[in-house]
Amino acid sequence: SNIPVIAIDGPTASGKGTVAHKVADRLGFHYLDSGALYRLTALMALRRGTELADEHALAKLAEHLPASFSGGEILLAKENVTQLIRAEEVGNMASKIAALPAVRQALFALQLGFRRAPGLVADGRDMGTVIFPHAQLKVFLTASTEARAQRRYKQLIDKGFSANIEDLLSDLKARDDRDTYRAIAPLMPAEGAHLLDTSNMTADEAVEEVLKWYAHTK
Ligand code: C5P
Repeated sequence: SNIPVIAIDGPTASGKGTVAHKVADRLGFHYLDSGALYRLTALMALRRGTELADEHALAKLAEHLPASFSGGEILLAKENVTQLIRAEEVGNMASKIAALPAVRQALFALQLGFRRAPGLVADGRDMGTVIFPHAQLKVFLTASTEARAQRRYKQLIDKGFSANIEDLLSDLKARDDRDTYRAIAPLMPAEGAHLLDTSNMTADEAVEEVLKWYAHTK
């Protein structure tokens, strides 16, 4: 299809969510937070006590995910779980189930469905490598582990969760390792991706950079 896609990938707390969201707003594009799909599946699994070893059951949860997105709110069936899915416990479970091929397969078609006119900004780990390999623009956002831990800390505190920098640093490293070294759809820059290190950048500066690159694709 000709509907443009901007794929923005990167590690956890690299600022990709904020940047991708703002880029989508500026262009009037739709926005896919693919991490939220893994988080929603994880939340359901945690609540049901589904074992990590039960790949089939987890894939079933993902395949029939009763998720909806509207006006920045994320609903699971009718429950607003926008804040709840940001909890570290949910993020950690998400990164574990994200290593399971059947779960990734179950979420594949759902993600493609977000590509609607006039365009899509897709945020995740494998947007440019697996889900939208023909994206008009691919960006790989990074930031130092310390900068990311600080951002995650601020995010959690702002959302009313408690947090501890040392724990966040070790969580980030564990999550990075799981995302980077897994056999399927590992976190890595897509071919042709523009690299952007946001350690010393504001979100708005990063947004301008991405918009500039996008303007050059046309
Ligand atoms: O981006 P976010 O931190 O919300 O993603 C939660 C987890 O979901 C990540 O740690 C990663 O393991 C997984 N994920 C993924 N592929 C994506 C998006 C997220 O594997 N496209």
